[in-house]
Amino acid sequence: METKVYSTYYELSENAAKEIIDIVKKKPSAVLCLASGETPKLTCQKLVEKAKLENIDFSKIVFIGLDEWVGIPPDNEGSCHFFFQTQLFKHLNFSEQRIHLFNGMADDLTKECGKMDTVIFDHGGIDLMLVGIGMNGHVGFNEPGASFLNYSHVMDLDSVTTSVGQKYFKETMDLKRGITLGLKHLVESKKVLMLANGERKARIIKAALQGRMGNLVPASIVQTIPHATVMLDKEAASLLENNSGCL
Ligand code: GLP
Repeated sequence: METKVYSTYYELSENAAKEIIDIVKKKPSAVLCLASGETPKLTCQKLVEKAKLENIDFSKIVFIGLDEWVGIPPDNEGSCHFFFQTQLFKHLNFSEQRIHLFNGMADDLTKECGKMDTVIFDHGGIDLMLVGIGMNGHVGFNEPGASFLNYSHVMDLDSVTTSVGQKYFKETMDLKRGITLGLKHLVESKKVLMLANGERKARIIKAALQGRMGNLVPASIVQTIPHATVMLDKEAASLLENNSGCL
């Protein structure tokens, strides 16, 4: 695991977008998995800007959505579907048949997980996974206690997630479960970027990167992933020991 600290969220986002562009340039049929949420929002915006400027083709990219709220329809503005649709798909030339997002409304969620795992396996695995970190250390919806050995699965949401998650919705929602890629996907992904910004993430970043590795803080699995880069702004990195300063 490597940690990079940027002086601003803007710089962090520009660099994360550049990492994605570099992969797409090298492998136009790459399998990309991105998180939704506040953290990667500016990365997506920068990605769209750079991709348009450089005329980058996304038509062969296989896109995997990291997670989804169970029971939330895709047209709800708080859904992960809605995020990708508005932040990425409507701006870049992704092929619809190569976009794979969990359907949080599916009757058979186990089947939905199996379908996602098969897509990933059939395409030779994920080339790049870009994830955020929840206030409780979750990755996707791998909540505290999640097994490090899981592929896609459904998980009951922790109370921190159900309350923090309200920020994505216009009305108060009854959030109970999430459907998500597993931590085993993260370990097996060829490249991992974990992003965090802002002072509110400093405590959990310290726990994930320098605390005891274990599933009480799912993001701590990143300590075991040599090909992972944790990209932080200086606020999110502010509690780290041996923090050698900004790039
Ligand atoms: C959400 C999502 C994650 C996301 C994380 C952090 O609930 N399930 O995929 O990365 O929490 O979200 P944010 O970037 O909004 O802080």
